[in-house]
Amino acid sequence: MSLYPKSHSQPLSLFSGVFAEKTVLITGHTGFKGAWLAEWLLLLGARVHGLALPPDGAPALFDQLGLAARVDHQIGDIRDAALVRRCMEEVQPDFVFHLAAQPLVRLSYEEPVETYATNVMGTIHVLEALRALQKPCVAVMVTTDKCYENREWLHGYREEDPMGGFDPYSSSKGMAELAIAAYRRSFFAGHPVKVASARAGNVIGGGDWALDRIVPDCIRALQEGLPIGVRNPHATRPWQHVLEPLSGYLCLAASLFKLPTNDSPLCSGFNFGPGHDANRTVGELVVEILKHWPGRWEDQSDPNAHHEAKLLQLSTDKASALLGWSATWRFADAVRETVTWYRASGHCNDPIRFQELTNGQIAAYIAAAEAALPWAQPIQ
Ligand SMILES: NC(=O)c1ccc[n+]([C@@H]2O[C@H](COP(=O)([O-])OP(=O)(O)OC[C@H]3O[C@@H](n4cnc5c(N)ncnc54)[C@H](O)[C@@H]3O)[C@@H](O)[C@H]2O)c1
Repeated sequence: MSLYPKSHSQPLSLFSGVFAEKTVLITGHTGFKGAWLAEWLLLLGARVHGLALPPDGAPALFDQLGLAARVDHQIGDIRDAALVRRCMEEVQPDFVFHLAAQPLVRLSYEEPVETYATNVMGTIHVLEALRALQKPCVAVMVTTDKCYENREWLHGYREEDPMGGFDPYSSSKGMAELAIAAYRRSFFAGHPVKVASARAGNVIGGGDWALDRIVPDCIRALQEGLPIGVRNPHATRPWQHVLEPLSGYLCLAASLFKLPTNDSPLCSGFNFGPGHDANRTVGELVVEILKHWPGRWEDQSDPNAHHEAKLLQLSTDKASALLGWSATWRFADAVRETVTWYRASGHCNDPIRFQELTNGQIAAYIAAAEAALPWAQPIQ
């Protein structure tokens, strides 16, 4: 039986079929979002290439999915401009998804120089390598919802709001956004490369094993039968399943691909956030997780902790109006699918089992999106 909705016994037809037989370079393919994106692009029939550091410890989703055997990839550091340029020249991509980054706020307080070097100069190296390309290519540069100057507003940030960021991580992504916009204006007008950026909120999903993120922290505690220590129970975040921003990045790339030139409002920044029901506190997220994997949590708020934003929401009106994209799964669906993935993965070591589990969740997500969203509908 096919995992896909009836109309998608041919999953290659999603996103208007633009990824089938195309060459795609993902930076950061050994990370959480990069591994999910690589898996989805393989299903869409793309030739997937990667550039990133080695997986950061074990377990790593990249290893669990056995991706090393299925993508053509290079282990390397995006702080090395010549290496990034060589990689781009060799791969000659039709699409680039730039995800490689140091993505953790707390680590950025400990390693600010490395964080800026990777997130700002690494992004500029990717832009320089794209600038040297002599062929049509679509580039989606991934930043974050934290790139905005946070004013603790109750309403969602819009794409035109000022960049900023209190801590090194957030400001490094604000700086990356400014560099992307400057390169677009200065070097990409009339160039065959089309560049957009994508800002998404806090992502959850199976296979995230990062230290110092709330869901992996919960899973590690639950696996060991320990209470979950919660640092920031009252902070509100726009939680979304990893497939939400990924469908947004793919949708944006497919729309850019179809443009005749890069002189379009689509070559700009886009928010990909969840619906309003998913703007929840960390405490509410933990309680929802415990519905699917019973256990306990305790408040470990530290009055001397580094500053982290308390309120953060995104407006997704632009993605809805220009791309026909909106979020698919509600908060409860995203949490259920996330915990289901971790529970089902158990102590398994078989990549085929992980591929089935991950592809099954991609199929369920597409089925949920199919009725309402143009990207999930078959080619007419
Ligand atoms: N996970 C989230 O909640 C979230 C939210 C908003 C934005 N983002 C952004 O999405 C992207 C992916 O995040 P993730 O959660 O998958 O992170 P991750 O830590 O799981 O993966 C990061 C990837 O970047 C690579 N990388 C890091 N430094 C590098 C360097 N110097 N050279 C080459 N590769 C390097 C790593 O090897 C890895 O492949 C990042 O740009 C992050 O800022 C993530």
